[in-house]
Amino acid sequence: MGRKKIALIGGGQIGGVLVQLIALRQLGDVVLFDIVEDMPQGKTLDIAEAARVDGFDVSVTGTNSYKDIAGADLVVITAGLPRKPGMSRDDLLTTNAKIMKSVAEGVRDNAPNAIVIIISNPLDAMVTLFQKVSGFPTNRVMGQAGVLDSSRFSTFIAWELGVSVKDVNAMVLGGHGDTMVPLTRYANVNGIPVLEMLERKYKDKTKAGEVMNAMVERTKMAGGEVVKLLKTGSAFYSPASSAIAMVESILLDEKRLLPTCALLKGEFGVNGYYVGVPAVLGSNGVERVVELSLNDEEQAALDNSVNAVKKLVEDMDRLGF
Ligand code: APR
Repeated sequence: MGRKKIALIGGGQIGGVLVQLIALRQLGDVVLFDIVEDMPQGKTLDIAEAARVDGFDVSVTGTNSYKDIAGADLVVITAGLPRKPGMSRDDLLTTNAKIMKSVAEGVRDNAPNAIVIIISNPLDAMVTLFQKVSGFPTNRVMGQAGVLDSSRFSTFIAWELGVSVKDVNAMVLGGHGDTMVPLTRYANVNGIPVLEMLERKYKDKTKAGEVMNAMVERTKMAGGEVVKLLKTGSAFYSPASSAIAMVESILLDEKRLLPTCALLKGEFGVNGYYVGVPAVLGSNGVERVVELSLNDEEQAALDNSVNAVKKLVEDMDRLGF
């Protein structure tokens, strides 16, 4: 049988946390790839030397050669530059598309059977490019954004209502950018609509709506809020944790329904674009996209977000990627 092999492409901030989380949960043997010489070897040596204290015995190694990712069951990609204060994710397009093209070639040639989760931004465009260059079946290529956006939204709801975040279910759909669509109508605390709880708290429908809108806006800008505080680099703990939820669902065949950047083939009225939607993740990757009824306002917001993704993909085509 042997253990699962997980290759991480990009050994920066997110890559490093991913190695540690995978080791702590013993999800499989990890190979960390980066173009920076010695750095992935150093990071993994550091983490491996904690194995005795942490009590894991998966292997954790670093490399600068794609050959070492051979046979990987799963690949998580974080290669690419993060944002600087004042930048939008879309500003990263040209630089990160160049990087993603080389990564897609490296993964295609060395781990042709892997399921791939991409985290690099601008997310929806990077997933599109990876799939195009690799030619991998679309169920094996997906992006992580919605799990994080939804976790951020859930966190703000939990703080506002004074309840455990463990009981909050809130989903964010659409592209991973300023046009993302937090589904306020479906957000609930163990089944109780968040909007109803806000109305009871404030005894005023207008005020409740305003508070919900403020949480929606904070969710949309949450990545930028962290970038502004960090000053160097962008969020890395929460993106790594979010990807791990997807990794676990795939490797353990959990079939969790998670917001995933997946290729749409007519669902939600969209054809041929990668966008964040609810999807069932299991040992076959994206096993199916789950549709839900949207009212006119929600559908319009999703269409607007899809249009932003389309524009980015067109820009990328025009740049020759
Ligand atoms: N191949 C492999 N790795 C590369 C390449 C390449 N061609 N080019 C750059 N890298 C590596 C860098 O050397 C760096 O170690 O990618 C790593 C990126 O790490 P960080 O700069 O620390 O960025 P991080 O915070 O991990 O974010 C990575 O995820 O959320 C997105 O917007 C974020 O696009 C960014 C990505």
